Amino acid sequence: MLIDKFDRKIDYIRVSVTSRCNFRCLYCMPNTPFEWEPHENILRYEEMFEFLKLAIDEGIKKIRITGGEPLLRKDLDVFVKMLHDYKPDLDLALTTNGYYLKEYAKVLKDAGLKRVNMSLDSLKPEVAARIAQKDMLKRVMEGLDEALDAGLKVKLNTVVMNGINDGEIVDLLDFAKSKNVIIRFIEFMENERAYPGIKRVDSKIILDKIKEKYSFKELPKDNSASRYFEMEDGYVFGIIEPHNEDFCKSCNRIRLTAEGYLIPCLFFTESYNIKEALRAGDINKAAHILKEVVANKPEKNDWQDEEVSTRAFWETGG
Ligand code: 5AD
Ligand code: SF4
Repeated sequence: MLIDKFDRKIDYIRVSVTSRCNFRCLYCMPNTPFEWEPHENILRYEEMFEFLKLAIDEGIKKIRITGGEPLLRKDLDVFVKMLHDYKPDLDLALTTNGYYLKEYAKVLKDAGLKRVNMSLDSLKPEVAARIAQKDMLKRVMEGLDEALDAGLKVKLNTVVMNGINDGEIVDLLDFAKSKNVIIRFIEFMENERAYPGIKRVDSKIILDKIKEKYSFKELPKDNSASRYFEMEDGYVFGIIEPHNEDFCKSCNRIRLTAEGYLIPCLFFTESYNIKEALRAGDINKAAHILKEVVANKPEKNDWQDEEVSTRAFWETGG
């Protein structure tokens, strides 16, 4: 079992399979990076799998595949199947911008994927296109329906930005409710790569807007990153508030980037390279680095002190 210095059980790993993306979301990657990592520096699926088998044997129960946009990487379903066949009861999830779900939802489900989190920041095609800097909403909506038809469990993620989509909070909530999927409103996390001038909307304001139309009560906190709320008719929605001081108390996760860095916390700049160990076939060394990462997981992130992260979200998978 992987337990950190603050007695948090680490049983969840987020794995970024590519830093590349076909969107340029204002809060994440508004400008195309100066250069992409060459392919030979990216971990192969087999290398990731060697490491993930080890992590599973140490107690990892949930793996989320992220990016960049993970569906840009070829044969993702083959990777999903490798993991699923190794441990069928693994909680296997994917975070995606939804653009390619239309093509891949069913093959991924057949390969063993259980859940999908999809970004949905606006219901208006022109606002969605302004945020992602791409005309994409129609395809994303088709992707959502395809994922639901395939039997995947879906959640929606909305980054709320002042003056851009904060007028749509209740409409987005009603849309999610009509599809019977959970939506989570995320406080924008300040980072150096984001488009300057993006302003976060505090969770309190988000909840106040919802309160104007619905009454709801908070559910007991589990170890996910969200706080969840239940409406009178039983519909559940969530809020992700990294600026809340309790946010990190239940953190159960570490991250692996496509370039082979293990990262103990989204905000902090520390990272540990496991690529060399994996390429040398030195699984003991990789196991040692995994233990070190867990041992050095910081108590809390730095957004709570109003700072700005230097880390690129498209490398660490949000
Ligand atoms: N702040 C908050 N959430 C972000 N995401 C990406 N960048 C940010 C940011 N700066 C989230 C998006 C997306 C997921 C991959 O990460 O909601 O759904
Ligand atoms: Fe791409 Fe996701 Fe970043 Fe948007 S948030 S640019 S879809 S990686």
